[in-house]
Amino acid sequence: MMRIKILLTLILFTTFFYTGCKNQLLSDLIIYENKADSIINLMTIDEKIGQLSLFTSDWSTTGPTMRKDYIDLIKQGKAGNIFNAYTVDYVKDLQKIAMEETRMHIPMLFGYDVIHGHRTIFPIPLAQASSWDTAAIEKAERIAAIEATAEGLNWTFAPMVDLARDPRWGRVMEGSGEDTWLGGLIAAARVRGFQGSDLSDKSSMLACVKHFAAYGAPQGGRDYNTVDMSERSLYEWYLPVYKSAINAGVASVMTSFNEIAGIPSTSNKWLLTDLLHNEWKFKGFVVTDYSSINELINHGVAVDLSEAASLSINAGVDMDMQGSAFVSHLDDLVKSGKVSEETLNSAVKRILVAKYELGLFDDPYKYCDKKREKEEIMRPEYLDFAREFAGKSCVLLKNEKGTLPVREDIKTLAVIGPLADSKADMLGFWSAAGQWEKCVTLLEGINNKVNGTVKILSAKGCNVNDDNTSGINQAVSVARRADFVILALGESKEMSGESASRTDIDLPGVQIELARAVIRTGKPVAVVLFNGRPLAIQELDEIAPAILDAWFGGTQAGNGIADVLFGDVNPSGKLTMTFPRNVGQIPIFYNTKNTGRPINPEKPYEKFKSNYLDSPNTPLYPFGYGLSYTSFKYSVISLNKTGFQKDDHITASVDITNTGDRDGEEIAQLYVYDLVGDVTRPLKELKGFKKVLIEKGKTVSVTFTLSPSDLSYYHTDMSFSFDPGDFELFIGPNSSEGSSVSFSIL
Ligand code: NOJ
Repeated sequence: MMRIKILLTLILFTTFFYTGCKNQLLSDLIIYENKADSIINLMTIDEKIGQLSLFTSDWSTTGPTMRKDYIDLIKQGKAGNIFNAYTVDYVKDLQKIAMEETRMHIPMLFGYDVIHGHRTIFPIPLAQASSWDTAAIEKAERIAAIEATAEGLNWTFAPMVDLARDPRWGRVMEGSGEDTWLGGLIAAARVRGFQGSDLSDKSSMLACVKHFAAYGAPQGGRDYNTVDMSERSLYEWYLPVYKSAINAGVASVMTSFNEIAGIPSTSNKWLLTDLLHNEWKFKGFVVTDYSSINELINHGVAVDLSEAASLSINAGVDMDMQGSAFVSHLDDLVKSGKVSEETLNSAVKRILVAKYELGLFDDPYKYCDKKREKEEIMRPEYLDFAREFAGKSCVLLKNEKGTLPVREDIKTLAVIGPLADSKADMLGFWSAAGQWEKCVTLLEGINNKVNGTVKILSAKGCNVNDDNTSGINQAVSVARRADFVILALGESKEMSGESASRTDIDLPGVQIELARAVIRTGKPVAVVLFNGRPLAIQELDEIAPAILDAWFGGTQAGNGIADVLFGDVNPSGKLTMTFPRNVGQIPIFYNTKNTGRPINPEKPYEKFKSNYLDSPNTPLYPFGYGLSYTSFKYSVISLNKTGFQKDDHITASVDITNTGDRDGEEIAQLYVYDLVGDVTRPLKELKGFKKVLIEKGKTVSVTFTLSPSDLSYYHTDMSFSFDPGDFELFIGPNSSEGSSVSFSIL
């Protein structure tokens, strides 16, 4: 009885607390809206337009710098917000102009692409996702926010949550991969990390979910290209990830460069107003991507910048990034009635509310604290965590005959390859204020690890991406003198990220020749791969005894990778994006449909089936795949029952035994298949995962709970519900392996 009472009190308290917090947020919002209204009443049209404008400083731009005169613009009240400016001194100087030299004294937002760390750089987001560790991801963003706010910033253009199924697209490095459900969890974790529990805290910054919407599906994987997809695919696969960030309270949304079904996002009223504000109840503000209002002219939906400005603000854009469209044309548009003053005021209000939420009206210089700037940057504990995260993000793709970890008895180790000692590449693209000089390379990490106990030889062998083979012989002779070779291959950092699409995603340059020659020496060889996307490395997979995918691990990359290579960290990462065998298989992703003529796995080249003449349908490495230095055995799945009512819980359990000789973490994954639907359903959909540490020789029982509503999908009429009928449930180590059981919803 007593226990029940305690439980009830707890529930009541939690409900009260939660409702209390929610009500508090709502009442704050009302207060801020009222305050914003009273300011708006005092503002001229020009001053209002200034608040809707965001201009770059002359630091780190990702497009044409259209206005060199941003300081004058601030003075004139025409630049209400600045991006690409950080450090306390710089931000303070600019903020001072807004506060002291403009009539309205409205503080500015300072935005920046803080994507995977600010000064301490963590692994690229796709690598972070491979850890399937949302707590670690949230922590990395928290540290990024602490560092960024200590240097004057109050707004990050992250998280990028664009679902992507085409590794030719360079920006896959910035997202979480190909799965909607996992992507949604990670999106929410990132928002929580950046924004903290209270936006007015000095270490919190506004997050900005991007790029709304479906920027990750450009035709042919070519950046900025057209996106065209069914309404169902958009709703089912692409939109939920943004929605998850909205539900987590993200303060702003960035439009995407692309069109969807003929309508560019930046002028898409359905997307920005009907869906985002009306249906999803998003309360924050919408900023464009870099000059994407101007690009409406190229898209061919506006004759000139004035029409582009009118289309975008009327669609729901609140802030113009770098386009000058609003500062140049909104005044006339409002005066001529093409844009109503009400529309203008709503946009201004959303931006002022964000400034209130940050507490900028109370203290415009709250992010300009020299002491914080000195103390909060690259603290030893952040570097320790960066090292841990670099190790956690590694995915062991192949490990024949236990090639890795490196044996303890080796006397001479060769570290070969164009990425073996390349500081500049370790950060990966979008490295904010990260300093490449401070990065630990693989060679340095290995040297730190062996600390003089092993003789280390090294050779570059070749460059990342040219046809010069003159260094290969020397690399081979270095390999011959060693007991073990580590071969550092892959892409350079500029080969992924924005504007970095590739049609050939094999190893660039002559690296495969280097690999062939070194492996031919017969020495034990482990390849460490550096890459911002899945690569089509079929030949490498055939010839290399071991491959560890290290992505771009950030400031501490080399130390983190060395921890894995030498077995101090047992690799536990699993891919969140499929690795194709060849470019012709793209787009390739795990949650495909059966089709009317499914491939016969026994006869993969049979005619008149959905297959290729020259390649299997299966990928090189599937979604969810990754090895460990130990091995795990899954038991059969046990279900609490096989027939479920709509309000029942479906409970599925397996025992996982660590059958190897060292402790290890396993990411057990649960997938479902709805056999017959109102519309076709994918063969597998991820619906759960558990990351568990299992000691050697021990067995851990893992239990997943689903409810029938977790099996909902968009029906013919676009209603979202689940159906009675038969399902299959799979639990296993990746999307291709594991056992299954059947159940029904009655
Ligand atoms: C263009 C990119 O698409 C976007 O992600 C980024 O935030 C802006 N440039 C600002 O740098």
